Amino acid sequence: MQKLAKDAVKLTKGAKVVGLGSGSTVAHIVREMAKLPGKESIEFVPTSLQIKLEAERSALRLVGEERIQDIDIVFDGADQIDSRFNMIKGGGGALLREKILISAAKKVAIVADASKFVQSFNRSVPIEIHPMARSIVWKKLFEMGGKPTLRTLDKGYPFITENGNIILDTTFASIPDPKKKENELKNIAGVLEVGIFTRRADVYYKARDDGTFETIA
Ligand code: A5P
Repeated sequence: MQKLAKDAVKLTKGAKVVGLGSGSTVAHIVREMAKLPGKESIEFVPTSLQIKLEAERSALRLVGEERIQDIDIVFDGADQIDSRFNMIKGGGGALLREKILISAAKKVAIVADASKFVQSFNRSVPIEIHPMARSIVWKKLFEMGGKPTLRTLDKGYPFITENGNIILDTTFASIPDPKKKENELKNIAGVLEVGIFTRRADVYYKARDDGTFETIA
């Protein structure tokens, strides 16, 4: 990951505003950004407290949502990437803010272990919903063939996102058309964001176990 991170941070060349997704992979990138000469001239927009804390430790200059429309490039991880480069994200619960940044950024760079690249999705889709809509969204997901599970912490306490919402990790038998599924799910009242991401990134970094990596543009 070290070599990969070194290469990936070169993409910040000329950038004034950089978006930071969330998760352990982006944390590697952030730690490498700490070593960038001239990093003081870059503003960083975080998507979660996790990555904000990581960026603080690396002494990066953090700014807020007022800079989102100016993001030159966003770095993010993924939970799964299918053969058409659709992604499932939200394993860490930051999907809503990640989707905002990915939709706003001029460029998108995704970094993920080789194991996350799959032919077609075979894991649950995180869906962030308003707590008030829990039972109705649950019912609708069932009607759509989904099997939702409320994301919980230890001892069964519900996981609450940084936006004050809950997450239903929902399994579907298959997702032949991710864009259509993303739209159908987003159309349910009470659904705030869906962990299916269909914007094609500008570059994907695939990290192999032996420390080497591959880039796919
Ligand atoms: C955060 O909510 C997610 O979308 C992450 O980007 C995703 O879970 C990847 O995380 P890791 O890099 O920790 O695997």
